[in-house]
Amino acid sequence: SLCDIGFIGLGVMGKNLALNLADNGYKIAAFDLDTEKVEAAIKQDELERKDQPQRIFPCTSYTELLSKLSSPHLVIISVPAGGPVDDVCHKLIDAGIQADDIIVDTGNSLWTDTVEREKRYEGKFLFFTTAVSGGEVGARFGASLMPSGDRYAWTRIAPMFKAIAAKVDPETGKPIERHEPGNPVLEGEPCATYIGEAGSGHYVKMVHNGIEYADMQLICEAYNIMRTGLSMTPVEIAKVFRDWNEGELNSYLIEISAEVLEQVDTETNQPLVDIILDKAGQKGTGLWTAVSSLQVGAPSPTITSAVYARALSTLKDDRVAASKILKGPDVSELGLSKDEVISQLHDALYCSKICAYAQGFQLMSMAAKEHGWNLDFAGIAKIWRAGCIIRAVFLQSITEAYEKDEELSNLLIDPFFADQIAKFQSNWRRTVANSSMMGIPIGAFSSALAYYDSYRSAVLPANLLQGQRDYFGAHTFARVDKASGKMYHVEWSSKERNITKIK
Ligand code: 6PG
Repeated sequence: SLCDIGFIGLGVMGKNLALNLADNGYKIAAFDLDTEKVEAAIKQDELERKDQPQRIFPCTSYTELLSKLSSPHLVIISVPAGGPVDDVCHKLIDAGIQADDIIVDTGNSLWTDTVEREKRYEGKFLFFTTAVSGGEVGARFGASLMPSGDRYAWTRIAPMFKAIAAKVDPETGKPIERHEPGNPVLEGEPCATYIGEAGSGHYVKMVHNGIEYADMQLICEAYNIMRTGLSMTPVEIAKVFRDWNEGELNSYLIEISAEVLEQVDTETNQPLVDIILDKAGQKGTGLWTAVSSLQVGAPSPTITSAVYARALSTLKDDRVAASKILKGPDVSELGLSKDEVISQLHDALYCSKICAYAQGFQLMSMAAKEHGWNLDFAGIAKIWRAGCIIRAVFLQSITEAYEKDEELSNLLIDPFFADQIAKFQSNWRRTVANSSMMGIPIGAFSSALAYYDSYRSAVLPANLLQGQRDYFGAHTFARVDKASGKMYHVEWSSKERNITKIK
């Protein structure tokens, strides 16, 4: 009989998504340019299905793949973002894909590419996208999915994507775990919600990754303070993270950080983290978030600073050379107890994390206004509660904040979060002050604090800035005592320096 889904691109993510679909009862026709990848997927299926009938069927061409599918065809693709997505689309057009067929892009595509693709392929097939978060394990056992595009396409494919999504216990908001092949999780709320028009799902996934960058960098700065400032061993730091994982900071990223810190290098017997070269890689999504935040004018300094931190890390040779020239402070001891520093650090991480999420959500909200998307922020927080990389207990509080007030302009002013920061901020400030005194770089912590202090300032020094602009460029300024919209200018070069109304 015919297959339900054609699957193209069987890399780590693709293979696991295909196996997840197979677990949920879908028959897959699979193709990859690299035939070894097809073979690996078939082998894995054989291993996992045991005596059950075959679930994944190999194809050697796009035409064969389409011929194995029931009509209308559904093809899911998992290939690198950019050119490869269009290559596959063109190959499928050549192979005879039809107007009523659906192609679903699951990669980390740039959202503007997605918008263009929907237009470009109109009438040839239905181009739909489902951004996927959760890495290999999420793809295999339940990911967080951010679908967007043609609504009709979504109604057709929603059941299979809801089936492979991570599930949340509706009572507690906590993930329902699945780690074994077979036995899909059928109960619970699926982490897959239609996000909106073409591009919006990839935009939301992009911001998810921006937040991911900030969250990771904050954890790394906390690690650095303990490692450099307190001379703790990686295993001791892992213990602190495990402790933190029991409370407000509970999250997948804290949990895996502890595991990385506990890992011993099998070759040298050293803590692995000491052997890993301190040059961070990146594939683009964090950078895109930072660029978009600048374009939209949605201040996201903690996210942006996390991208800069990766860039700075790659200047390894410069840093090594500079470390021999540039002096830091003489303070290497603050006379604080280790326990004191660690508990301050906990609060600093928590407050900074709230700011990073506040930035990400405000960015989405401002971008949505600009692009005419009707984003449901409670819904977005909900699908990030399980399956994705930033999954955390914390997302439940964000869900509740937006359920209470769907128009909330910034998470910081939600009563719960406002109260949390009010309670924890003194330790946050101490952490930033102490780390600065010791010369430990804390770009993410300090940018979050400056963001918080700016956001809660009724008056900022932009008044002087407007004066400067008017002085050298006649850029004009508004007055606090006159109706808005009216602009004024000082004739700076004249002796009288008259102030004139411009419009
Ligand atoms: C996820 C991840 C995933 C990937 C990113 C990050 O949500 O599952 O974000 O999409 O790991 O591409 O990659 P970089 O750190 O390499 O930019």
